[in-house]
Amino acid sequence: MEKKRDTWDSRFIFVMAAIGSAVGLGNVWRFPYTCYKYGGGAFLIPFFVALLTAGIPLMILEFGLGHKMRAAAPLAFRSIRKKYEWVGWFAVLTGLFVMTYYGVVMGWCFRYLAYAINMAWGNDTQGFFYNGVLKLSGGIGDIGAPVGWTLFGLFLCWLGVFFSIIKGVKSVGKVVMWTVPVPVILLLAFVIRGVTLPGAMDGLSYYLTPDLMALLDWEVWLQAYGQVFFSLSIGFGVMIAYGSFLSEDSDVTNCAFITCLADAGICFMAGFAVFSTLGYLAFTEGKDVAEVVKSGPGLAFVTYPLIINKLHFIPQAFGVMFFLMLLTLGIDSAFSLVEAGVAGSIDKWGLNRVSVNAIISFLAFAFGILYTTRAGLYWLDIVDFYLTNYGLAIVGLLECVLVGYVYGADKIREHVNRTSEIRIGVWWDLCIKIVTPVILLWMILAKLLNVNGIAAKLAGRGPEGAPWREILFNPPYEGYPAWAQMAGGWGLLLALFVAALIISSVKSRRDGNA
Ligand code: PFF
Repeated sequence: MEKKRDTWDSRFIFVMAAIGSAVGLGNVWRFPYTCYKYGGGAFLIPFFVALLTAGIPLMILEFGLGHKMRAAAPLAFRSIRKKYEWVGWFAVLTGLFVMTYYGVVMGWCFRYLAYAINMAWGNDTQGFFYNGVLKLSGGIGDIGAPVGWTLFGLFLCWLGVFFSIIKGVKSVGKVVMWTVPVPVILLLAFVIRGVTLPGAMDGLSYYLTPDLMALLDWEVWLQAYGQVFFSLSIGFGVMIAYGSFLSEDSDVTNCAFITCLADAGICFMAGFAVFSTLGYLAFTEGKDVAEVVKSGPGLAFVTYPLIINKLHFIPQAFGVMFFLMLLTLGIDSAFSLVEAGVAGSIDKWGLNRVSVNAIISFLAFAFGILYTTRAGLYWLDIVDFYLTNYGLAIVGLLECVLVGYVYGADKIREHVNRTSEIRIGVWWDLCIKIVTPVILLWMILAKLLNVNGIAAKLAGRGPEGAPWREILFNPPYEGYPAWAQMAGGWGLLLALFVAALIISSVKSRRDGNA
């Protein structure tokens, strides 16, 4: 007999878990920088438009699909048509591969948590990070051995992930009660400390001064959509899995709105913490804010330690708080990616949860070892670029087409409306069937093709006599060698696609019963 599906203990816990997945490192090290770079305060307009036309609609779609099919992504897509099960596996595998490097970043955070106690990074925070911590080699082919402490940090991260999802939604529910409020409180402490520092207002004016002309630039709009997709954890099957554990009468639409608005709010708030302190750094170094601004690992592991050095009042405590904040921000995003895979496997094979969790965690940990090597940062950079730009957009696009056209957007809409306070109208169908897929397709093409070059050539303004094949594609990402782009980019995506096809063709317990 089929075992009854576990459900979240309350709607509140579900929303906390979804917020926990959405709010991650991206909120702190991606949003503020993207906002600054693409129009400052004016960026908030495309950001909200993207939230309303793609973020919230896709969140409703993912929650609603999981809720309706009572299944994680693979079985949910199989319920649309048997032959589309692979789409669910592709989503889940892409997410698991994101997790292979997300875990390494968390491993660095563990190391920095220890360094923060005596601010071991010293004054040359850049040299300390790249040479001391990463032991970065001269090139992507020069891999070397794994760096012991990073490997240990990665292991700690996976232990945390393994135990957080050990009892599925029941244990997740307990963990997120800590890992959601704690980083938000810490972030608030950084906002308060930040805005009371000298130079803070300069920093904030860089963050928020609107450049209205930016609204005319299509790149700004694409960036806003990209930010919304990544930040909301959409496109890797996570929210489908989480939605599948909602009790039958849950208000899906309401939960989707709360999750999306909370994530957006925390993005906005993180900007205050980041830019006020960047303003302070610029002030103390007598530089322009534009000279010190950074995003990604450079912000967290080079610039922030430098800022912490300059705090007069208990800097060590702020160091510990900062890395604790990153760890608690990241862990619930991390285990949500793994849970999507674990739930999908249990749906398919009905295996014991602890064994599936152990196997998936071990395999993903093993893949992650590559990024703990001396060339780890280069590989991380490539894999991140291809998975978050192409992988996520491809899954999102497939999701919209399959639900919008093959299954019928109206069926999901009617399903969620049955139990939701806010009734969604036909606008939602339009977003799923037209707006979001068009934007996603555009995102893929704009990354792949040299749109400006093509436009210039068509208008007869291109470089004299340059052949089309030189103009058509964008140069390879960051100039990494072609073999590495192949292996960590297209090759990886192809491998994930083939793996998804193979897994979906393996017999499931349902085939056995059929
Ligand atoms: N939303 C997370 C962040 O902003 O850091 C990253 C993420 C987690 C993306 C889980 C996708 C995902 F499925």
